[in-house]
Amino acid sequence: MSEKAHLTIGDKTYDLDVTIGTENEKCVDIQKLRKESGYITMDPGYGNTGSCYSSITYVDGDKGILRYRGYPIEEIAEKATFVEVAYLILYGELPNVKQLRAFRESISEHAALHTNLEHHFSGFPKTSPPMAILSAMLNLISCFHPEVLEVHSEGPEFDRTVALLLSKVRTISAFSYRMAAGKPFNHPNPNLSYCSNFLHMMFSDPYREYVASPVIVKALNLFLVLHADHEQNCSTSTVRVVGSSRANLFSSVAAGVCALWGPLHGGANAAVIKMLEDIKTSGRPLSQYLDMAKDKENDYKLMGFGHRVYKNFDPRSLIMKKQVYKVLEELHQDDPLLEVALELEEETLKDSYFVERNLYPNVDFYSGILLRAIGIPLNMYTVLFAIGRMPGWISNWRELLEHKQRLSRPRQIYTGEATRNFVPLAAR
Ligand code: CMC
Repeated sequence: MSEKAHLTIGDKTYDLDVTIGTENEKCVDIQKLRKESGYITMDPGYGNTGSCYSSITYVDGDKGILRYRGYPIEEIAEKATFVEVAYLILYGELPNVKQLRAFRESISEHAALHTNLEHHFSGFPKTSPPMAILSAMLNLISCFHPEVLEVHSEGPEFDRTVALLLSKVRTISAFSYRMAAGKPFNHPNPNLSYCSNFLHMMFSDPYREYVASPVIVKALNLFLVLHADHEQNCSTSTVRVVGSSRANLFSSVAAGVCALWGPLHGGANAAVIKMLEDIKTSGRPLSQYLDMAKDKENDYKLMGFGHRVYKNFDPRSLIMKKQVYKVLEELHQDDPLLEVALELEEETLKDSYFVERNLYPNVDFYSGILLRAIGIPLNMYTVLFAIGRMPGWISNWRELLEHKQRLSRPRQIYTGEATRNFVPLAAR
C-alpha cells in the first residue's frame, strides 16, 4: 500500500498521497486539499513546493550533487561538448556518432537570421542591454517562422525548432554585441564548432579573422555545459509557467531570458565582477562589505554567494574555480580580481553569519573571471548564461507538454479591504 500523510485541521484529518522520486525525494501531494478542506498551502517563493515531476536534471543541494539525465556534472563537464550535452538534455540519451553529426548539421543549417530580422537590430539604441535585445529577438523569430507557432513537442517539427533555437540564440547574442560596438555583423561559418562559431561572430573583423585558441574554446564550452540545466530555477519555472498556457516555445524562452536577467539569478555573474571591482578600487576593507551584507537594514548582498537549493557547496562553482586557474595559466594571464575573489571567499568561510546560513560561492562567483579571461565583455555575461540554459528551457517546455501539465495558476490569501460601497467622484 502506498504511504499516506495525514493532516489534521481542527477535528478533521485529511489523507494525502505521498510520492517518492528516483533518489528517494519525498513529496506530500496536496492537489486535492483545497477541494476537500477549503485550505490552501502558503509558500512564497516556492521554496518548499514541487511544481512538476521531471526526469531531466537531479540536484541534491545538501550533498552538492548535480546530474543531467543521471550523468554527474563532474564527468559531463570533463568529457562532453555543449552540443552533446544539449542533445542529452533534450532527448534523454547521449548521441551516437550519427546522431551527433545530424544534430550538429541541423544547428549549422539554422545559424543565419532572416535578413528582415537582421534589420531589426538597427532599431535598437547602441546602449540597449543585450538581454533586452535577446528576449525581444527570440520572440520575434516566430514572426519569421510562423510554423513554429504550431505547438509541437515531438517529431521533425520539434527537432527543427530545437536546432533553430539553439543556433539562433547564439547568432542573435553575437549580433547584439556587434550592433552595440558599431561593427558589421559576422555571418556564421558552418565549418566551425558551436563555440568557435560564436567567438567568430563576436570577434572577427573585416581586416582580421578571429581564430579562437583551443584553450578559449574549451573554457567557453565548459561554461555552457555548466549552465545547461538546473531543474526548476527561476527562469526555467518561468518558461514552464508561460508554456503552461500553451504559448509557443519562442515566447516561453523569451520570458525565460527576462527572468534570468535579474541579479538574484543569472544577472549575478556580471554583478559579481562589479562587486569585485568595487572592492578592489574603493580601498575599503573587506570587513565593511561583509558587514553591509550582514546588515538586515541594508539590501546589499554578497553577489555570487548563497543558493536556494545548495546548502553545502555548488558543484558547478568548484569546477568553475578550477577551470579559472587552468585558463589563466594556459593563457599566461593574471587577473587581480581573482585575488579579491579568493580573499572574499576565505573571509566568508571564517565568518559565522555565512557559515551558519550555508552561504558558499555559487556558479556565478567565478564564472565572470572565466568570461573575462576569454574576452567576453561584461554586459554579455548573462547572455552567455542564456545561451547555455537554452537546452534546459526547451527540454522543460517539452516535458510540460508531454505531461499535459495544467495551467500554472497559484492561489493567494487576500489581505486587502473587505467589501466597500463605491464612492462617487464628487464625494471623495
Ligand atoms: N549575502 C548576504 N546574505 C545572504 C546572501 C548573500 N548573498 N544570500 C542569502 N543571504 C541570507 C539571507 O538574507 C537569509 O538571512 P536570514 O536567515 O538572516 O534572513 C539567509 O541568508 C538565507 O537566505 P535565503 O533568504 O533563504 O536565500 P534564498 O534562497 O531566498 O535566496 C539567493 C537565494 C541566491 C537569491 C540569495 O542567496 C542571493 O541573493 N545571493 C546573491 C545573488 C546570487 O549570487 N545569485 C545567483 C544564484 S546561483 C545561479 C542562479 O541560479 O542564477
